[in-house]
Amino acid sequence: MTSIVLFCRPGFEKECGAEIQEKAAWNEMYGYLELKKNQGLVFFHLHESAHGEALMNKLPLKRLIFARQWFVTVTDKIDLPDYNRVEAITEVLGNDWQYSDLRMEMADDNDGKSLSKFCRKLSVPLRQALRKNKVLTQKGNNSADDPEGAILHALFLSGQEVILGFSLARNSSPHVMGIPRLKFPSASPSRSTLKLDEAFLHFIPRDEWDERLTSGMNAVDLGSAPGGWTYQLVRRGMMVTAIDNGPMAESLMETGQVKHKMMDGFKYIPLKKNVHWLVCDMIEKPQRVAKLMSEWLLHGYCKEAIFNLKLPMKGRFQQVTNDLQAMKDAFALHNLRYELYAKHLYYDREEVTVHARLLSPAPLSTKE
Ligand SMILES: C[S@@+](CC[C@H](N)C(=O)[O-])C[C@H]1O[C@@H](n2cnc3c(N)ncnc32)[C@H](O)[C@@H]1O
Repeated sequence: MTSIVLFCRPGFEKECGAEIQEKAAWNEMYGYLELKKNQGLVFFHLHESAHGEALMNKLPLKRLIFARQWFVTVTDKIDLPDYNRVEAITEVLGNDWQYSDLRMEMADDNDGKSLSKFCRKLSVPLRQALRKNKVLTQKGNNSADDPEGAILHALFLSGQEVILGFSLARNSSPHVMGIPRLKFPSASPSRSTLKLDEAFLHFIPRDEWDERLTSGMNAVDLGSAPGGWTYQLVRRGMMVTAIDNGPMAESLMETGQVKHKMMDGFKYIPLKKNVHWLVCDMIEKPQRVAKLMSEWLLHGYCKEAIFNLKLPMKGRFQQVTNDLQAMKDAFALHNLRYELYAKHLYYDREEVTVHARLLSPAPLSTKE
């Protein structure tokens, strides 16, 4: 049987499963779900084997909100011996297929954490053996080397059990289990800073940073206190208008790059319309935030927006789908071309992060 294995935040398996099942059905591919509760793992077992690869080819991972990483299985669960695990894996793989990289992965729970050390140790001899057998291509230390290549995934359920599979380099996360390990900058006033750092990494291609994420730009941060997100904008050389009734960290105010306005983020309208980035981390009803973001974009108050939609306790997938649909409807009303992607990022908790920008001129924009 072929399955798609998806990695998500532990506790969000239901949402991740519902989403893949829905998107597969849109493509007339069907299967059933096996959720590994609180392990951050979802198995989507497909009724037709060929649909695993077909779905990977058709559906961009970036279209999935709750899945951080995925692969299609090429084996069922393999029982490994206590010794010669490398030989056991290489034997199963043969050398019919070549891969440009290897990802050793595990559940995102405590058992997974204890397995990660074991995996790190095993990965060195396994890589060597796979290279020798020409299963891993020589250059393949990094999937960026070969965007058209396939990535080999080894999902360890324990030290004795592994499932092997593959993903397409151009349509999978470059990070093991889809988790980027970011360093917390000690100068930031809050840990939330990592959410915006990850969002920029995830949504904005590196080769476009010079144009879209660069020094001298103006930004607005709604719900900015104490300043973790503002810190990310300041460190990229931007001038930031920070909106929050709460206090901003002195260290940020001292940079001279931040103007703090103590007011309601729903009432603030920028005087000048040269704001490139609008970012918003206000703890508010997600439908209110989505509406506000649409208004900013439609009026041309900003060029791009990154914002959080806080998730409710129940019906999380439905809620976020509805909020995004409301934004799409607002853009469609004006026949606009746009980009709108949402992701439950690693540093998000009970929220998803959204990136939106219009590719058409803002229809409600008026001259200053
Ligand atoms: C999660 S915190 C933001 C943390 C911030 N992004 C950081 O990295 O330090 C949410 C903030 O939203 C602010 N907030 C909530 N509703 C707001 C509103 N209507 N207008 C302005 N700020 C609001 C709160 O005062 C709070 O400081």
